[in-house]
Amino acid sequence: MSEDEEMTKVNIASSADIIAARGKGRELAMKMGFNVVDQTKITTAISELTRNIVTYAGKGEVTIEKAQSETGDKNGIVVVCVDEGPGIKDIGLVLKGGVSTSGSLGLGLSGAKQLMDEFEIKSKPGEGTIITIKKWLRRR
Ligand SMILES: Nc1ncnc2c1ncn2[C@@H]1O[C@H](COP(=O)(O)OP(=O)(O)O)[C@@H](O)[C@H]1O
Ligand SMILES: [Mg+2]
Repeated sequence: MSEDEEMTKVNIASSADIIAARGKGRELAMKMGFNVVDQTKITTAISELTRNIVTYAGKGEVTIEKAQSETGDKNGIVVVCVDEGPGIKDIGLVLKGGVSTSGSLGLGLSGAKQLMDEFEIKSKPGEGTIITIKKWLRRR
């Protein structure tokens, strides 16, 4: 199957959409051979980032697909969360954790970063946020 056929896109605007995105992430991770612990790390990261889309941007989308490292020696999963919401002013600060504008714990972004192997965030106030996370399959 080509990588295209493996790509899933879920529009995110509600809790039901978050659950759907988690399910798609779990499904691909399982199919690719991630162990249960890694499947859970991936779905937890998807939960946190898509929950942020609903809470802070109202709506957005997430794509989930297979990834390969630039050198081609690693296979994994890449999740891209995109919204056109208010954006994040101080990315460095929110990544340290414990900062929340919704009276929550403020551990979603920092947690997602720790759970995944790669974490990239692009955000501009007034324009939106794009967060790309990756997890590589461990070689046996
Ligand atoms: N997609 C987003 N758009 C705008 N702001 C965001 C987004 N995601 C996170 N933020 C900002 O970053 C802060 C930290 O997010 P997070 O670590 O998930 O903690 P929490 O959601 O518990 O506040 C949020 O309180 C919010 O201000
Ligand atoms: Mg959050």
